[in-house]
Amino acid sequence: MPENSRVSRRSVLLGGAGAFAVAAGTAGLARASAAPGAGLAKPVGEAFTLGVASGDPTPTGVVLWTRLAQNPLAEDGLGGMPARGVPVQWQISKNERFTRIVRAGTAWAAPEAAHSVHVEAEGLAPGTEYFYRFRTGNAVSATGRTRTAPARGQLGELTMCFASCAHYGEGFFTAYRRMAEDHPGLILHLGDYQYEYASKAKDVRKVLGPETVKLADYRLRHAQYKTDPDLQLAHATAPWLVVWDDHDVYQPTTP
Ligand SMILES: [Fe+2]
Repeated sequence: MPENSRVSRRSVLLGGAGAFAVAAGTAGLARASAAPGAGLAKPVGEAFTLGVASGDPTPTGVVLWTRLAQNPLAEDGLGGMPARGVPVQWQISKNERFTRIVRAGTAWAAPEAAHSVHVEAEGLAPGTEYFYRFRTGNAVSATGRTRTAPARGQLGELTMCFASCAHYGEGFFTAYRRMAEDHPGLILHLGDYQYEYASKAKDVRKVLGPETVKLADYRLRHAQYKTDPDLQLAHATAPWLVVWDDHDVYQPTTP
């Protein structure tokens, strides 16, 4: 997306990077609860350094994500993890104390996927808030909050935020934290979640690695973004729907 894009209504410019947050009031998912501490439980141990995420909600399911990385900024993009698979337990609960667990299982964090975990949870109730977390060994992830889509024909109030064009080097991700503080029911990311460029002298914080071309470069860049606490908070607060843009995969104007 061009970096001079504009949005109307309440918008927040993220540094010089052109990331925006905006509230909308159309039908869809309800606003998340404002329960104190919701989605804010801190991780235990060294495995869950990249936070948690949920997305693509349907009326009965949602995708959960995390990635194990003991050394998230390892140059080879493999997060300092051993070259073997690791079992990861997951739980979904109706409350953030995890005393009302409704779904649970074990996923496999494989080295071929850089120990990322992708769970497609099903059997949930429509239009309902849930909390989720992961565990491996003695390590426990941060707690995330998510929400299923409403049942078909049951549209209601929606608090939705969207973002795009988030350049780690050109600005801090304060706008993601402000989004989380609005307790959205859904966050849309409209592309350019990360940028491929190597660090530039004018950047306010250093982007690691060369311009992303190889898989290892993309993994390192993605992991560096994921270490940002404001971005982690936005992911832990609400499910996301995402689309690609050019910088996420390939910038055709780059020579
Ligand atoms: Fe962009």
